[in-house]
Amino acid sequence: MSTNLKAYRAAILHSLADPAVVGVEASYEYFEDGLLLVEDGQVVQLGHAADLLPKHKAVEVVEYRNALITPGFIDTHIHYPQTGMIASYGEQLLDWLNTYTFPTEQQFADKAHASDVAGIFLKELLRNGTTTALVFGSVHKQSVDAFFESAQALNLRMIAGKVLMDRNAPDYLTDTPESGYADSKELIERWHGKGRLHYAVTPRFAPTSTPEQLALAGKLYREYPGLYMHTHLSENRKEIEWVKELFPERKGYLDVYDHYQLIGARSVFAHGVHLCDEECKRLAETGSAVAFCPTSNLFLGSGLLDLQALEQHGVRVGLGTDVGAGTSFSQLQSLSEAYKVMQLQGKKLDPFKSLYLATLGGANALYLDDKIGNFESGKDADFVVLDYQATPLIAYRMQQAKTLAEKLFALTILGDDRAVRETFAAGQSVHRRD
Ligand code: GUN
Ligand code: ZN
Repeated sequence: MSTNLKAYRAAILHSLADPAVVGVEASYEYFEDGLLLVEDGQVVQLGHAADLLPKHKAVEVVEYRNALITPGFIDTHIHYPQTGMIASYGEQLLDWLNTYTFPTEQQFADKAHASDVAGIFLKELLRNGTTTALVFGSVHKQSVDAFFESAQALNLRMIAGKVLMDRNAPDYLTDTPESGYADSKELIERWHGKGRLHYAVTPRFAPTSTPEQLALAGKLYREYPGLYMHTHLSENRKEIEWVKELFPERKGYLDVYDHYQLIGARSVFAHGVHLCDEECKRLAETGSAVAFCPTSNLFLGSGLLDLQALEQHGVRVGLGTDVGAGTSFSQLQSLSEAYKVMQLQGKKLDPFKSLYLATLGGANALYLDDKIGNFESGKDADFVVLDYQATPLIAYRMQQAKTLAEKLFALTILGDDRAVRETFAAGQSVHRRD
């Protein structure tokens, strides 16, 4: 028997499919006393400990009590340069960008600063159980080198890109259509497909790119297999009005991206809070995804996303934190806010749908569901050990809980980084709380 085989024993839960499609009961698999077998960074098998242990008598078993193992969380929209400006007071999107964001991102011209922040950022993601993220860099190509170097050292599955921005931003933060294209291409050649890293062509949003830059971004997105396209869409009402002024010949905001061939498989649009039916339909038919960022949408006063409308149109949806407009790195906290966003619209968010959004749904939005998102054999062994006794209150609440749904729901509402006992990436422990 291979010496690399290792087993993790605890309660184990993972998603199998979207509850909106197959119903809640068929959407997950749960092992009260489960065993996850891992070898060479991949999942070998998941099952009941009582069934698997007799077949693997010599295997090393790591056992967790009062714990729940789930797949690693997937954050489908976040900005690493904004780590240091999280929780900046009082503005809505456009003023917030000018007041806080642009001056903060200027500092990433310095590679050493970028490396420092990349390290802090990745540590924070792992402390919160997030093992894969779709990440904005800054406009500087060295910001992306710094990020990928740090992610590679931890063998993480990460997606990132250099921001493209050639107008309506300070001079110190702008590129040109040609330099943005050339710098992105250089980064793609250096990083895309290296280990578990992927590149995303990253125009910030329609207002900060000229038509020439969007056209070149659309060309680049189609030049290499497996590239992502990552941007913002319909987040804030003033932003939407501005896009109408800048692109009067287009039908609407999404149509700008559509016109420049920036939509399709592996294109991810953060927010999409104010979309019409026609735009939802277009996102669905092109296989594009929306990143639902509840803490950010509440914090910037952007609005309430109608998750069910996107679902009914068949749009791929992942969960995003959108730090630094988002107020937490924790997907558990994001789910707590997502639940409240739905409540404010008279709607619900089932806890198993929450689990799906933070794991397999995110993987599906990113076209990575053949590699991550649940514990099917052969997938990356990216997983989290959640603590049912993370705080005195959580421990006491769990004593009252009678069902798995109740426990899972309370964990998503009350949990945060304290609930993450250990995080594994490709079978290696990359964060241990205690
Ligand atoms: N739209 C354009 N840039 C940004 C950004 O940095 N954060 C958010 N939330 N929205 C944006
Ligand atoms: Zn964002």
